[in-house]
Amino acid sequence: MSTARDRTQVPAAARRRVAVIGAGYVGLPTAAVLAHFGHQVVLAEHDPDRFGLLVRGDMPIVEDGLAELFGDAVAAGHLRVVQHAGDAVADAQFVFLCVPTPQGDDGSADLSYVEAVAAEIADHLAPGAVVVNKSTVPVGTARLVEGITGRADVAVVSNPEFLREGTAVRDSLHPDRIVVGADDPGAAGRVGELFAPTGAPVIVTDKVTAETIKYAANAFLATKLSFVNALAGLCESLDADVRDVILGLGYDKRIGFDFLRPGPGWGGSCLPKDTSALVHIAESAGYDFALLREAMASNDDQLAWVVAKVVAAAGGGLDAVPVAVWGLTFKADTDDRRNSPAVAIARRLVDLGAAVRAFDPTVPPSVRAVPGRSADDLSGMVLCADPYEACRDAAVTVLLTEWGELRDLDFAKVHDLMAHPVVVDARNLLDPAALRRVGFAYTGVGRR
Ligand code: NAD
Ligand code: UGA
Repeated sequence: MSTARDRTQVPAAARRRVAVIGAGYVGLPTAAVLAHFGHQVVLAEHDPDRFGLLVRGDMPIVEDGLAELFGDAVAAGHLRVVQHAGDAVADAQFVFLCVPTPQGDDGSADLSYVEAVAAEIADHLAPGAVVVNKSTVPVGTARLVEGITGRADVAVVSNPEFLREGTAVRDSLHPDRIVVGADDPGAAGRVGELFAPTGAPVIVTDKVTAETIKYAANAFLATKLSFVNALAGLCESLDADVRDVILGLGYDKRIGFDFLRPGPGWGGSCLPKDTSALVHIAESAGYDFALLREAMASNDDQLAWVVAKVVAAAGGGLDAVPVAVWGLTFKADTDDRRNSPAVAIARRLVDLGAAVRAFDPTVPPSVRAVPGRSADDLSGMVLCADPYEACRDAAVTVLLTEWGELRDLDFAKVHDLMAHPVVVDARNLLDPAALRRVGFAYTGVGRR
């Protein structure tokens, strides 16, 4: 019999009682992974539809490996779901806030969910509990939460999250680093220990610095993407191939290959709102973050550039022109369409008069009738069950999300279905030579 401890779990003496508030893209993997590590986790979700799905054992989001990890943790008795934050925290030693911080009207982060949950749990927190802020919040929010809870015996700690959608489980099991910001190094250390099975380095700092690290990471990634998107534009002007330029850059270890794929612009629920919030935070602190403002403006230009490519591919105008759109999510392997460049571009095509038929593997044609799933962003588009159906009679097909299955289509069939065999590949996903052999006119971004 082996006495070796399973290294994916904390030792019995290090198991803690944890509450996670908010069952979204961050709260679900956080709860599942902490439970997988052996902690006793209670997850609170106040949305009745979402709560109902979880109680029935269904996942409200598309996330690779999450359903299995979550189901296993529930079956092992390490994880349960409740509807009210107050019920989740009563017995918890650690309370993770994973609620939304959407972009407010002036570009700053809207803290109303964080404020509401802090007020909701204040009187229910166990003596000596640690409130851990995982939501992305402006500098100074940990202090705001302290003020709202008004509990001298409760520490508030900042623990920003760096997971990506689509790889959230992998990122949570194997993070590059854990950042904990606290006034009390003891509380910070105890939060770091919850994640010991990850083996990741733990950076302990003060709260303001931890909050700054989170925005700095997202703003840096956004700036890197704006750079590479601009590079794609330059390559087209120079008749260079951006993919080989990337190869030449990526092998330089100081640059690396990650986040070097040009596309239709960066989007999602976080990069846009967090860059905008950081510009706002900087402004409030008397610093003009001009570089970041430029990265954001250049991202708007990227969207317009892709739209212009579709207009050009259609011969100069889109009025009543049938256009097929492949991909609606902000990137592949997620069902998230929040701030999706694909949706923004498809909307502009609709506004220019195009008859858009769209396909995305996570958007069934019946989506408008699915309870709890708004599809307002897709108004004016015909939703199709498969990519072939979308491109029937189309004058142009534009690929906006890099779904792997689009690479392996029967392009001879696509060719025959379309009125004009013209493809704009905003993700450089397809093989231009193979498409041209079949008879397509192909346009990518920054490549011949
Ligand atoms: P989300 O909208 O997917 O999920 C938030 C959940 O919290 C929702 O299900 C909502 O109903 C629930 N909720 C809100 N108030 C509640 C309350 N009082 N009690 C119980 N449940 C409540 O949001 P998300 O994408 O998980 O983002 C959460 C935070 O994490 C944001 O600050 C975001 O910036 C940050 N973040 C997100 C990601 C990501 O990839 N999505 C990554 C890192 C950090
Ligand atoms: C991003 C960060 O990568 C995470 O570290 C962070 O935790 C998260 O935001 C957050 O704070 O919410 P995510 O929103 O899941 O994660 O998406 P990314 O993988 O960063 O992609 C963002 C956008 O950039 C997408 O539109 C994607 O298509 C685009 N992108 C990304 C490219 O166009 N090219 C690339 O090479 C990489």
